[in-house]
Amino acid sequence: MVLQVLRRGGVGVDKRTGEFGYGVGEGVLGVVGELVGVGEASSGVDVQFGVGVNSVRRWAQTLPRGAAVIDLGCGSGFPLTEVLVAEELNVFGVDGAPSFVEAFRRNLPNTPVVCEAVQDSRFFDRTFDGVLAWGLLFLLSREDQRRLIQRFADILVPGGRLLFTSPAQPVVWSDVMTELESRSLGAEEYRRLLSEAGFSIADECEDEGQNHYFDAIKTNRSGSPLVNKEASV
Ligand SMILES: C[S@@+](CC[C@H](N)C(=O)[O-])C[C@H]1O[C@@H](n2cnc3c(N)ncnc32)[C@H](O)[C@@H]1O
Repeated sequence: MVLQVLRRGGVGVDKRTGEFGYGVGEGVLGVVGELVGVGEASSGVDVQFGVGVNSVRRWAQTLPRGAAVIDLGCGSGFPLTEVLVAEELNVFGVDGAPSFVEAFRRNLPNTPVVCEAVQDSRFFDRTFDGVLAWGLLFLLSREDQRRLIQRFADILVPGGRLLFTSPAQPVVWSDVMTELESRSLGAEEYRRLLSEAGFSIADECEDEGQNHYFDAIKTNRSGSPLVNKEASV
């Protein structure tokens, strides 16, 4: 097992060893595990992972000023929630770790945050124009990921946007710090779940930090964006 240094919040594969890792929280820590059921994944992927600031900023800029956005697994709020706040969105945070929530309250005292597991969260009992789940989904069980994607659809307004990250390959790895299993269902499965939940994918991409992200729009059940449907009537 190799301990490698990754920037916070990123995930990916060491092209030399084929090992998989992600960074959590402030600063850096090493997390490694083994790829499961992945053929080509170990080639052509660098070992450094970015924090997603540019991708999240671009996404935030697609939303109107004042739009309500919930940041799930927001951590300390730095730097990603701060990007949302800087873009003048109406931001809400959820994180399951009390220490991160405490840090979040210090970093962003005017931004509401709750310390709840996303599996049980009431998500402030409201709907949102955007849901951000950067570096979160793959920490959950397969079943919780499936349920949460449906919950994303429930809390988004029609035309609302979802941005989340998870590796494109179906992989399982273990967190060296917590020894918890992490898993990506893989892009094919995420596409299927998104479609079932009534999303269309606006963009799916590997960003400069090697974060594989899904940028999806809540549509009607037949998979076409509500905005297009309305326009065509
Ligand atoms: C990899 S960090 C990502 C933090 C932040 N989104 C970022 O990208 O900078 C994962 C975050 O999700 C939180 N988290 C993990 N499992 C969670 C769960 N089941 N419910 C709520 N938060 C969770 C962790 O406490 C941590 O803050």
